[in-house]
Parts: sequence; structure tokens; C-alpha cells
Amino acid sequence: MVSSIRFLKEVGIILYGGQFMSRVELTSGSQLTSGGELMVETEEHFKMKIISMQEALAKLKDPSVFDLSTTPKRIYERKELQTISDLMAKYNVFGIPNNIIIYGPRGSGKTISILFFLNILKKYNIKTFYVKARECPSSYTIYQKMTNTQKFGYHPIELRERALKEFKEKSVIVIDEADFLEDFEILYHFSRSTKASIILLAQNIQFGKRIDEATYSSLLPSKIYFSEYDAEALYQILKMRAEDGSHTWDGTTLQLIAAIVSRDYHGDARIAIRALFNVAITDAWHDEEKVKNAIIEASREIDIMSLKELKETDLIALFVVSKIKETNKAYEIFNNYMNKIHHRPLSKPAFFRILNYLQNLGLITQVRKKVGKYYTTEIDLLIDEKTIEEEVATKFSELLT
Ligand SMILES: Nc1ncnc2c1ncn2[C@@H]1O[C@H](COP(=O)(O)OP(=O)(O)O)[C@@H](O)[C@H]1O
Ligand SMILES: [Mg+2]
Repeated sequence: MVSSIRFLKEVGIILYGGQFMSRVELTSGSQLTSGGELMVETEEHFKMKIISMQEALAKLKDPSVFDLSTTPKRIYERKELQTISDLMAKYNVFGIPNNIIIYGPRGSGKTISILFFLNILKKYNIKTFYVKARECPSSYTIYQKMTNTQKFGYHPIELRERALKEFKEKSVIVIDEADFLEDFEILYHFSRSTKASIILLAQNIQFGKRIDEATYSSLLPSKIYFSEYDAEALYQILKMRAEDGSHTWDGTTLQLIAAIVSRDYHGDARIAIRALFNVAITDAWHDEEKVKNAIIEASREIDIMSLKELKETDLIALFVVSKIKETNKAYEIFNNYMNKIHHRPLSKPAFFRILNYLQNLGLITQVRKKVGKYYTTEIDLLIDEKTIEEEVATKFSELLT
């Protein structure tokens, strides 16, 4: 039962409730009764939809295999895991910290690979700690998590001392989504005062350049690059998911998905897995056109998931820069919109902080351009403009009028 609810969420009935309902087109005969009850046609449609979803569900062995947020039972082991293993084995034996920055684009398996590796370390009784900087962006909030202290009120230095004590000896500290770190003091103090090894996972190749020199020179990280998945790697990942999650599957179709996603979607494993799911539930294994559409749909779904996580102000900023590429102009328009939704205006630095945040999420890139004597910053959009507009329409229809 739980898994079928989860499944309905996956296919859109619950998670994309609004969207699903908007796809239901009431025929001309449909009306609300005076009591506001839905007429039979809607109920009939609902019933038919449930039946078709149940049929789709029956095609799967285990729907949770396609849930992108859960850790799979088995993974395709990237060869870079060997390098990480080498460094960590050395650390385990000699006790001299080996800090690492792992760079890689979204969906290149940074998180899953490191979580997999942490599980191995646990078997060797090595203390581990894992945090996402998007959730804990400051050193202070990471110290809180390290020491299990919820309430504010500790003096930052006292809290830091407690955190340092907690991980003084051999331990591995992972900071995922490190692009979101707002300060680097934690890196400075841990690399100077403890024997812990620190592993940072980042998307932006420029991330290391943001770390101040003093901190960087005591961290001295090894750098490991996770390249975009190629078709062969994606095929291996898809094959595992198909075997574990679907009653039937077809190798040639998996190869087609793998080839298209590696060529057109930066080898993003999330899109490949989601496309596989779409193909499996519609039984589209032998229809190339449907497979291609399933991939397009998967990419859209992943975009929508990212947009749903945004705060109101972030979504509006993204919407504005999707229309007006030059950021100074966009800032003015942004505040007009803030006014329309009865939100107080934001300062320019606050607006630029949002743009950095959107860049860290991989939704935009900021490009410096020289116009005459001056430099301006323009936005390259990494997500479909129409999808943004649709998301804005569901949340703030007033902005589109
Ligand atoms: N090597 C892999 N083996 C199995 N699943 C993978 C692999 N790489 C990525 N995935 C799956 O693809 C999705 C994205 O991977 P993730 O580790 O979150 O990427 P990143 O952290 O680089 O953005 C996750 O659902 C993950 O389970
Ligand atoms: Mg990740």
C-alpha cells in the first residue's frame, strides 16, 4: 500500500496534483451541481485514471527502485571510487589526513558514490559525518549538526571547540553540495586542529577558487573530477534499475536512452532513470518515438522538481532573468514583481545572492560581458523557459497578466 501511494506520487497524481488536475478536461456536459459536488463524468474520469495507474504499477516489480531520493541497493561503481579508496586506505593506515574535493556536474553520481563509500568506511569502524551544505550553509550550523545541538545560544567559538573535540581523531567528514557553503572557517579549523579527513563535493569547477588562501593551503585537497556519464556507464546504471524494478525490459531501449541522455542531457543519471521509469510504466519498450518523448518528459519532470524546491522570491528572480538577461535591468523588474505580490523590495546585493544561489543549483550561469567600456552580467538559462513560466503560473497567476 505504501509503495502504491508512493507510486501515485511518482506518476504525478499527488506530487503534481495541480498539474494532473489541470490536464483533466471537463467535457462540455460537465458541471458542478448546486451543492458543489462533482458530476459523474469527473468521477468516471478519476476512476479510469486510477485503473490505468494501477495497470502501470503492475508493470513494476518494485516502484521504489525509480525513486531518485532513495539509495539504491546496488550501484555502478565509478572508476574514480578507486582513487578515493586509495587515498582513504592510506589515511586509515597512516592517519595523515587526506582531504579531497570531488567536482562533477549534476547527476554524475557524486552523492551516491560517496554515500556508498561511507558505508564501507563504517565497516572499518571509521567515524563518519555527512552533511549537505544546502541545508547547513554556515560553519556554525554544521557545528550544530556535528554536536547535535539544536538551539542557538552557544557562543560560536564554544560550539566550534565542541565540534572539533567530537572529530579530533580519525574520521571522515563529507560536506555535500559544498557550493552552498557561505564561509570556510570549518575547513580552516578542522584541517589545522584535527586528524579528520574532509571530502567536499561540488558542482562548480571554480568552487576551490572561492576558498581563501590560508584555508586552502592547510586543506591541500586532492582534486577528483567526475565527468559526465557516457552512454556505457548510463547503460549499466539503467540495466541495474531495470532488472531490480521492472518486470520486463529491453536492452536496446536502455542503450537508446543511455545514448540520448549522454549526448543531449549531460549524462545526467536522474534523467536517464526517470526516462526508464516513464518507458516501463507505459510499456513503450518497442516504440522509439515514445522512448524519445519519455526522455523529454523526464527532463521536464526533473526541472519541475527543482523549481518546486525554490522559495517564492527565488522563483520570481529566476522567472525575471529568464526574460531579461541583463542582471541590472532584471533587478528593477524583479522589485516591480515583488511589489505585485505584496512582498517588500530586496536590495541589489540580496538579489545577486539569489542569482548565485540559482547558479549553484545549476539553473542558470552568470556570464560577464563587456559592453563598450563597461562590464555587465548576463544570464544563460540552463532550464527550459516555458517550464519556469508554467511553474510561475501555478503559483502567481497575477504576475503573468
Ligand atoms: N553510479 C550510479 N549507480 C547507481 N545509481 C546512480 C549512479 N550515479 C547516479 N545514480 C543515481 O542518479 C541520481 C543522481 O545521482 P547523484 O549521486 O545524486 O548525483 P550528483 O550528486 O552528482 O548530483 C540518484 O538517484 C542516484 O541514485
Ligand atoms: Mg548530489
